[in-house]
Amino acid sequence: TRVAILISGGGSNMLRLVQAMQADGFAQPVLVASNDPEAGGLARAAALGVATAAVDHSAFGRDRAAFEAELLRPLLAAKPDVLCLAGFMRVLTPDFVRRFDGRMLNIHPSLLPKYPGLHTHQRALDAGDVEAGCTVHQVTAELDAGPVLGQAAVPVLPGDTAGTLAARVLVEEHRLYPQVLRQFVAGLSARQAG
Ligand code: GRF
Repeated sequence: TRVAILISGGGSNMLRLVQAMQADGFAQPVLVASNDPEAGGLARAAALGVATAAVDHSAFGRDRAAFEAELLRPLLAAKPDVLCLAGFMRVLTPDFVRRFDGRMLNIHPSLLPKYPGLHTHQRALDAGDVEAGCTVHQVTAELDAGPVLGQAAVPVLPGDTAGTLAARVLVEEHRLYPQVLRQFVAGLSARQAG
């Protein structure tokens, strides 16, 4: 199973996905692509021998479709079976999502359906939540709303800031995403075999 990963920044989740695939061989990381040519994750992927690509979304202004058309060139050339969004910070159009129908995953730093969108940790703190966490879900046209594939919860501790809570959740993201991807890939193979 060929897996491509989209990032926007440091790529700590991408790194764990690539390391898990390279350790167990349950899938092959075929491309890491970013909307930011300066994304630190691109060098981390290259250091692990994974092909990379970058398409600067800011070069396309508000023309989301034109940015996606450019991003699709290296992406489709890599012939991925599964597309993982990992710290990818651009909203994708329904047309793009439809191209990977049912085979696109994302990790979101909240216990969906709570707190879709941004600033999830601050919102949990402001609401006085006693727990927070992360969700891996299938990507659909509606932002942060597709079928949930896995979740991990962490306690909110007294004195937590968005930063301390984010750090606690990130540890769980790094454990959850490879686990869910492994299960998802196993399910794909089973369906294809079945
Ligand atoms: C993190 O805040 C994480 O919660 C979310 O995207 C951000 C960056 O992740 N998924 P990464 O280090 O680039 O994977």
